[in-house]
Amino acid sequence: MAVACSIRPARDGDAGAISQVIVSALRETNAKDYAPEIIARLENNFSAAAVRELIRRQKMFVAVLGQQIVGTAGLDGSMVRNFFVAPDAQGTGIGSRLMAEVENAARQAGIMTLMLQSSVTAERFYVKRGFKALRDSYYDDERTIIMERDLDRDLDHGTRLGPGMASMAATPLYILVRLWIHEGREAEFEAYERKVSRIMARYRGVIEHAIRTSRTADDGSDEPFEVHVLKFPSRELYDAYRADAERRALTRERDGIITKTDSLVGAPGPTYGSAAGPAAPRRG
Ligand SMILES: CC(C)(COP(=O)(O)OP(=O)(O)OC[C@H]1O[C@@H](n2cnc3c(N)ncnc32)[C@H](O)[C@@H]1OP(=O)(O)O)[C@@H](O)C(=O)NCCC(=O)NCCS
Repeated sequence: MAVACSIRPARDGDAGAISQVIVSALRETNAKDYAPEIIARLENNFSAAAVRELIRRQKMFVAVLGQQIVGTAGLDGSMVRNFFVAPDAQGTGIGSRLMAEVENAARQAGIMTLMLQSSVTAERFYVKRGFKALRDSYYDDERTIIMERDLDRDLDHGTRLGPGMASMAATPLYILVRLWIHEGREAEFEAYERKVSRIMARYRGVIEHAIRTSRTADDGSDEPFEVHVLKFPSRELYDAYRADAERRALTRERDGIITKTDSLVGAPGPTYGSAAGPAAPRRG
């Protein structure tokens, strides 16, 4: 029987209640499929403090019934994570509602393929939701199943990407970024860029080239400290990266290191027969 619950983004103050939902699902539902040591280790990963950190780093949702949180799910780049419904609320459609919300959030972020690491317990649930098993994964004796679902090809939910968006997704996007830094901040800059490139990877973006000039600080000149060539598979994934909560949370750190940036967005142009492009026809 389906029940009327509402789904909303998780807030910092939800961490304790989310932790309780997860721990009770682990103890009562997953414990049928996993050894006590594994359940204990997983419980540790979902303390209230750990969940608070997840809320900050991922797009987390909660299912609320009356005043009570009864389920949770997270989207971390293209990975569905932390998917749990409280044992006495399971089987009433809450998991399906949460999954629909996660799928919508993914589509809005331009994500075409959802991935997840399923518990043995939840595999059949995910299969019903259109996921396909790719392979098993083991952490000691803890078996999980890596699964994926192609959202673009999903015909069941009426929210498919329009034909325009699907074709845009096939065109890679290049972004040329110029970066000027505060004097003496090279090491902090490198540490910051390493963090940012990890976030970029969630959206399949890469720094293809980083070109360093001889300027070591922003002295008001037109020449930056570095020029980056970024590549993303699509405009949607680039926009999703720019909207990423963890990336935005780094703004203050960034402002202490980088004085200014500018960027130029485009698609690959011709290479005029140069060596890096398609081989030029040989003469003679
Ligand atoms: C997996 C889980 C989140 C599903 O949530 P839920 O609220 O019970 O799901 P729903 O009520 O929306 O169920 C949807 C369908 O899946 C089926 N289903 C749910 N759990 C199932 C299970 N373990 N095995 C087989 N089918 C299952 C339901 O019968 C229902 O089928 P129907 O649409 O034909 O009626 C929940 O069972 C859970 O918390 N499990 C333990 C934690 C866990 O393993 N999480 C996954 C971590 S990767």
